[in-house]
Amino acid sequence: MGTIRKRKLKIKKKNFTIFLICLILITLGIVKGVNRIIKIVQSPKEIKEEKKTNNSTDNNKVKDERLNKLNNVDKKIDYFNYDYVDRYISYKEKNKDIDDIQIVKDVNMNVDKNQYENPTEATKLNENIILVNKFHYLKKDYIPKNLEEINKNYALSGMKLVNYAKEAFEELAKDAKKEKLNIVAMSTYRSYDYQVDLYNRYVKSDGKEAADTYSGRPGHSEHQTGLAVDVFNNNETYTNFEKTKEFEWMQEHAHEYGFILRFPKDKEKETGYQYESWHYRYVGKDIAKYIKNKNISLEEYYVTKIKD
Ligand code: DAL
Ligand code: ZN
Repeated sequence: MGTIRKRKLKIKKKNFTIFLICLILITLGIVKGVNRIIKIVQSPKEIKEEKKTNNSTDNNKVKDERLNKLNNVDKKIDYFNYDYVDRYISYKEKNKDIDDIQIVKDVNMNVDKNQYENPTEATKLNENIILVNKFHYLKKDYIPKNLEEINKNYALSGMKLVNYAKEAFEELAKDAKKEKLNIVAMSTYRSYDYQVDLYNRYVKSDGKEAADTYSGRPGHSEHQTGLAVDVFNNNETYTNFEKTKEFEWMQEHAHEYGFILRFPKDKEKETGYQYESWHYRYVGKDIAKYIKNKNISLEEYYVTKIKD
């Protein structure tokens, strides 16, 4: 009798083990099946998101390696643009002697591009910090607000600037006159159409390549902002302005009235234009002082401070 009970107990134990194994296998099967169903019903968008996460991890690795090539300069400056990493690297490869911070500044200023390559419309319209150059243009119909004619004591007839720049210029010219110096505005606001004629005339006389070194193409001249002024001393021709006492005075005082020498010597690479001793640009007193003290171009100020 005892032996039969023992055998029955053994059989029960065996069956229980088999039952347990079956249960585990069925559960695993169900889990796998459910997972498969989830994958099937998962929307393409969700799958895409999942892939994107994996890709971005890969991208981050690539990015890290690329940032290493730039010695992780992105950690040191707040105007590093992650969209330009490729451009930074390729510019750096061509300019091994330029340090990483300057690489970033140059590329942000589009120094690595051909002039007029993919220009974008200028932002900050009607603001004293607006940047118009070979990469930032104004539309044909852009006319600045509040243009006013400069007092004829300090300008040729019909010379207009945006009101606050006009007032600053009159103040400047009045103070220069106290020292018997004549600072006279001879070209100020120019419309798009006016620039068309002017540029075409230059191209006709000097050829396009030469004209591009000293004249903005229509839409690309900051004279259209109403914030730029060409001056002369009413005696020497404007191209000789550099040789005059008035120029010396401007070198010392223009920034006190909010004006900067817009196309300085040695900044051709950044501004895109040859040196012009006669062309001044109103930016406001604080910015003018900053630009003068740091000896930088408006382009450099813009990409490091405005970061637009
Ligand atoms: N002469 C300057 C560059 C202009 O045309 O705007
Ligand atoms: Zn000018």
